[in-house]
Amino acid sequence: MCGIVGYVGPRQSQDILLAGLARLEYRGYDSAGIAVIDGDGALHSAKKAGKLARLREELDARPIGTGTTGIGHTRWATHGGPTDLNAHPHLADDDRLAVIHNGIIENFSELKAELVAEGHGFRSQTDTEVAAVLLGREYRAAGGDLVAAFRAVARRLEGAFTLLAMHEDHPGLVVGARRNSPLVIGLGEGENFLGSDVAAFVEHTRKALAIGQDQIVAITPDGVTVTDFDGNDVETSPFEVMWDASAAEKGGWSSFMAKEVSEEPEAVANTIRGRVHEGRVVIPELDGLDDLFADISRIVILGAGTAAYAGLVGKYAIEQWARIPVEVELAHEFRYRDPLVGPDTLVISISQSGETMDTLMAVKEAARLGARTLSICNTQGATIPRESDAIVYTHAGPEVAVASTKAFVAQITALYLFALHVARVRGTMGADDQAAQIEELSALPDKIRWVLDNEQERIEQLAHWMADTRSVLFLGRHVGYPIALEGALKLKELSYIHAEGFAAGELKHGPIALIEPGQPVFVVVPSPRGAQVLHSKVVSNIEEIRARGARVIAIAEAGDAAVLPSADEVLRIPLAAPLFEPILAVVPLHVFAMGLAEAKGLDVDQPRNLAKSVTVE
Ligand code: M6R
Repeated sequence: MCGIVGYVGPRQSQDILLAGLARLEYRGYDSAGIAVIDGDGALHSAKKAGKLARLREELDARPIGTGTTGIGHTRWATHGGPTDLNAHPHLADDDRLAVIHNGIIENFSELKAELVAEGHGFRSQTDTEVAAVLLGREYRAAGGDLVAAFRAVARRLEGAFTLLAMHEDHPGLVVGARRNSPLVIGLGEGENFLGSDVAAFVEHTRKALAIGQDQIVAITPDGVTVTDFDGNDVETSPFEVMWDASAAEKGGWSSFMAKEVSEEPEAVANTIRGRVHEGRVVIPELDGLDDLFADISRIVILGAGTAAYAGLVGKYAIEQWARIPVEVELAHEFRYRDPLVGPDTLVISISQSGETMDTLMAVKEAARLGARTLSICNTQGATIPRESDAIVYTHAGPEVAVASTKAFVAQITALYLFALHVARVRGTMGADDQAAQIEELSALPDKIRWVLDNEQERIEQLAHWMADTRSVLFLGRHVGYPIALEGALKLKELSYIHAEGFAAGELKHGPIALIEPGQPVFVVVPSPRGAQVLHSKVVSNIEEIRARGARVIAIAEAGDAAVLPSADEVLRIPLAAPLFEPILAVVPLHVFAMGLAEAKGLDVDQPRNLAKSVTVE
């Protein structure tokens, strides 16, 4: 949460910072601000509550100069409301020093009390200002050595933070620190960048450096130095960003979400690419890592929100093909319950951003307990893959809209690939079966495209008609259950309508009491060609709710005639083997949630109260 960008070089920093913030705005949009050090060596800043557009208006009205060193911030509020005063940057040392921050400084009250006792004053309610004032004090104590002062501050802070700072005594220098919160360096020619993720600078350079935990970076136009909090040099890992700036542009679409839903076929195809050889799944990143899962006795999958739902789908595939027991748990629940994992457990974390604090902390806890860890992640250089023993990247491309769509189908694809890879290594699946599953998997991109081409318009129309709906329920069984959960989550977060997903079998144990005449219920119907019993159970569930007046919208295989008499609407998906249906069934639900939010005139890319990358617990 919160987006951070820094720049040093020959160019005016304001436009670079604003462009970087525009790409990071998905991380939070409660306020935005920048600070620059001008050619005359003076520090200027501007900040405004609200979205970045408000800051742009402010800068148009009151320009802050042509400085070539600068930092910028887009906020998701934690300590202190979304006001101008609480917006970042926060200034100290007679307004000669500027600090921006992502994370939560857990010991800020103690530090603040210490600084107040020394006579320091505060203007905001934020934890960040405490770091700024502390840095001002340490700067003087260090005789004007900004990097040394920054280290001293970083050592005093508890919690999670990425901090950037600059001081008008040091034009051409931006310092950064990180603990459990993201920070990536962009390497340019005669200029360097810092960002919460590579989107902040990818239009200027695709050369990047990931830095580790508890490290300090100092960038100047000519160089980058990285040390630990004690000042020791540390090794960094350079990487080339795999996508270019245009991948994170709207490119003519009405919203990032519309673009990203349209990219679901490519997200699946690109995640499969290079991982299928001669009828077998071989994941190159897992080459030589067979030990990681050769003798494990169970798998625990961790994630939050949509990522956790992808994990629930993965459980069915891993258990069926690789014959390893799988538990799926919300990362934040796992972390604090003294979990029983050890060297016989493989913990798979799923995260689009690779920065979700709940998931990161759970992975660290699992590693501390001796478990082996594997990260399924969509973001290069992110923290969770760096903290894991192995990585399988999803290749969905940058996902900018806050609600996750194309990353979800890519995560499920990666889990299918993982399950098939492990099944081959462990010998739990015959070659013919493996080849048949690969054929099904490879057909998915075209089938998703079919749903978009043939059903999107009708679903959008349905969403339009339902714009006044106050509550929607979603039902599914087996692999359809996580899809019901995902459909409900997407509708809640995009359209602010009450929505719940249930396992269809759970209906009679309580939720059926919610059904009253006209209640819309989406039902994910399993293929009649798969487990026939599942199909008939779901059709019976439909009858039960219809008998009580529910309005049923079924998502069913084209050709499933049994469902027709029972449903008010049927949204069609192509035929697929049962385990692969979720990836098709979710597409109408993504389109529906987006369509309904649009019909209500809501911002589908930046829903209220949310941020894409949840980097606080
Ligand atoms: O970046 P991650 O995949 O770790 O994010 C996990 C969740 O915060 C995320 O999926 C969230 O639930 C989305 N808003 C869902 O659309």
